[in-house]
Amino acid sequence: MNRSDETRLLRQCLNLLDEKSTTLSSEAHHSAVERYTDAVRFDKELSAIHRKLPIAYLHSSELPEPHHFRTVITHVGSVIFSRGDDGIVRAFHNVCRHRGAQVENREAGCSKSFSCPYHAWRYGTNGELLSVPFEETCFPGLDKHQHGLAAIPCVEAYGFIWLCPAAASEQEAHAQLHSHLLEVIDDLTWLGLDKLHVFEKHVRRWKCNWKIVNEGGLETYHFKFAHKSSIGPYFLSNTCVTHQLGAHFRVIMPTEKLKQVQAESVEETNLRDVAHIVYGITPQTTFLVQKAHVDWIQMIPISVDETEIVITQLIPTSRAELSPSEHAHWKRNMEISILTLDEDFELGESIQAGLKSGANKVLTFGRNEGALAKYNQWVEDQLALE
Ligand code: FES
Ligand SMILES: [Fe+2]
Repeated sequence: MNRSDETRLLRQCLNLLDEKSTTLSSEAHHSAVERYTDAVRFDKELSAIHRKLPIAYLHSSELPEPHHFRTVITHVGSVIFSRGDDGIVRAFHNVCRHRGAQVENREAGCSKSFSCPYHAWRYGTNGELLSVPFEETCFPGLDKHQHGLAAIPCVEAYGFIWLCPAAASEQEAHAQLHSHLLEVIDDLTWLGLDKLHVFEKHVRRWKCNWKIVNEGGLETYHFKFAHKSSIGPYFLSNTCVTHQLGAHFRVIMPTEKLKQVQAESVEETNLRDVAHIVYGITPQTTFLVQKAHVDWIQMIPISVDETEIVITQLIPTSRAELSPSEHAHWKRNMEISILTLDEDFELGESIQAGLKSGANKVLTFGRNEGALAKYNQWVEDQLALE
């Protein structure tokens, strides 16, 4: 996003403020209840979407140096992400090539090799099989080159490490990621996510379908009601500028500060000073962009009615360099984020609990919730491609 884009978006926010309105679709839409309760459909969504598209699983700052690694549970099982001697991050199935035990049980660490706990086959950070106990006697003729850890293409870009399980090679992974993010690349570059650092992570599972969680981030209709005791008073009611950017969504949510911006001062105003911006990066990533930091929210489908939410606060300074007062500031900020987002997720659980009652055959999206309809249409389009 360049300065003229930012100014144009600010003017769109000011127009809506004048009109006391929001981005409106031409008509209301409906979403069938089965879309959130059908376990067979859920499995299709995983294979058509989550095991197919690039997904960000780590921020680059979580693997700061060569030999740092992390293990992550993904939609293709446990994966080791490892930064090699050459600084390149690689991903491997966390599965031993001998008899299939999990090779690395630690969540994170720094190591030049990975040793399987069962019979100590040892692998390098580039996945190659380095040593096998009693190799000559017990595995004569073993071709170690053919028994490295099974690689999964991944790409480090825009501050994140994206797993691309459907790609056949690193080159194809780069092409897939570029094509998937094409319409948001300018915005991701503008955000400077690669310059941020992880402050803290918060993980919790909620009893609701992953799409319900995503829908909650695409409108501000609920702010004054659902968030009346937290952030609601700081935002304009039912006012947001929404754009679909390829497969993704940008929702600009102006705060009360927008009222201080005069038409003639737009050129000197930063969008992030007067609005929060939600980027819904399909399928399971949301960036909640605030003035000086970004909350990265992962919505990981576990089952048709359960979603794991990982909230990671990304801040401009490395945690180790924070003064005590800066640390307290970000800690407080994280608490506010969790408090506010929990209000959304509790409502997500209440929606899921009501779905089976039969009270609704469909959920209704008003003209002010048009992004929800477009988002769900995108999901349907992916299923149709299968
Ligand atoms: S299963 Fe890993 S060394 Fe045997
Ligand atoms: Fe909310």
